[in-house]
Amino acid sequence: MFRVAFQIALALSAISGALGAALPRKRATICNGRAELCSRPYGNTTFLGSHDSAFFSENPFALARDQEVDIPSQLSLGVRFLQSQAHEKDGELHFCHTSCVCRILFDGGLVVDYLSQVKTFLDANPNEVLTLLFTNPEGLSLTDTWKPAFDSSGVTPFTYVPPQQPMKRSKWPTLGELIDSGRRVIVFMDAGADGSVDFILPEFPMLWEPPFDSTDSSFPCSVDRIEGPLSTQDHLSMLNHNLDIDLFDTGILISDRGHAPTTNGITSIFANANGCAPLAGGLAPNFVMLDYANVGQGKTAVDRLNGF
Ligand SMILES: *[C@@H]1O[C@H](CO)[C@@H](O)[C@H](O)[C@H]1NC(C)=O
Repeated sequence: MFRVAFQIALALSAISGALGAALPRKRATICNGRAELCSRPYGNTTFLGSHDSAFFSENPFALARDQEVDIPSQLSLGVRFLQSQAHEKDGELHFCHTSCVCRILFDGGLVVDYLSQVKTFLDANPNEVLTLLFTNPEGLSLTDTWKPAFDSSGVTPFTYVPPQQPMKRSKWPTLGELIDSGRRVIVFMDAGADGSVDFILPEFPMLWEPPFDSTDSSFPCSVDRIEGPLSTQDHLSMLNHNLDIDLFDTGILISDRGHAPTTNGITSIFANANGCAPLAGGLAPNFVMLDYANVGQGKTAVDRLNGF
């Protein structure tokens, strides 16, 4: 009797295990905070971005900072596009500014620690799509240097691998599809993305950039960096909406904290979006990248660009 009951229990647990594996995940009904965004293609969505996200400091004398608040705080403000620049230091991958680009060095810590914070966010926020844009000025190896950081932080299983490359702006999945698949982190890299790691996507064949480090608060728009066979309109688009000051006309650029409330205001962001729209098929930008993402109205501007 006992044995029969035991065998039934075993059979039942096998059946429910098989069912559990076969049942699709419950479909997301809220995506990046909005029901409407679940059916919105990634290429037709505007995301708030943080420029040099790892270079945060509350200290106003940290001249090489571009942000005031840390990664978890940026994410809780609604930032869903994190940009940062990495270098090798003592054999490890760090997010750093370098003096060779006229910036005072700022060590934003290990890339793997940064990515671990991203993983914590992803675990706690299962209905969020996130984009990472990392710059790799030294062209460090994807397989030997970058992938291990993604693997040890646990971010790799969340990364999206497009079915073909380059992906046209109109071909990206919806936010709902990305979330339902569990592969909801899109990773771009500006240099050295040679295809050796399938989820580290080369930036410029799919995302064009206007000039960066503008010292002109009207942000004149032009196509500064682009690659590959796709037209500009078939690329994703972004605003480098971060204003710099030329320190005593020395050519040393520092981010303009004083004007950040105006720069990150609705008027300035919309003017920049309108200035770039003719180059982007009349569409809103996909990414609005700011310095001091905690200052101003970045999230409200992005919501409005998304039609809310
Ligand atoms: C999304 O599509 C609408 C309608 O065509 C357009 O107005 C908007 O600019 C698009 N946004 C993006 C980011 O492509």
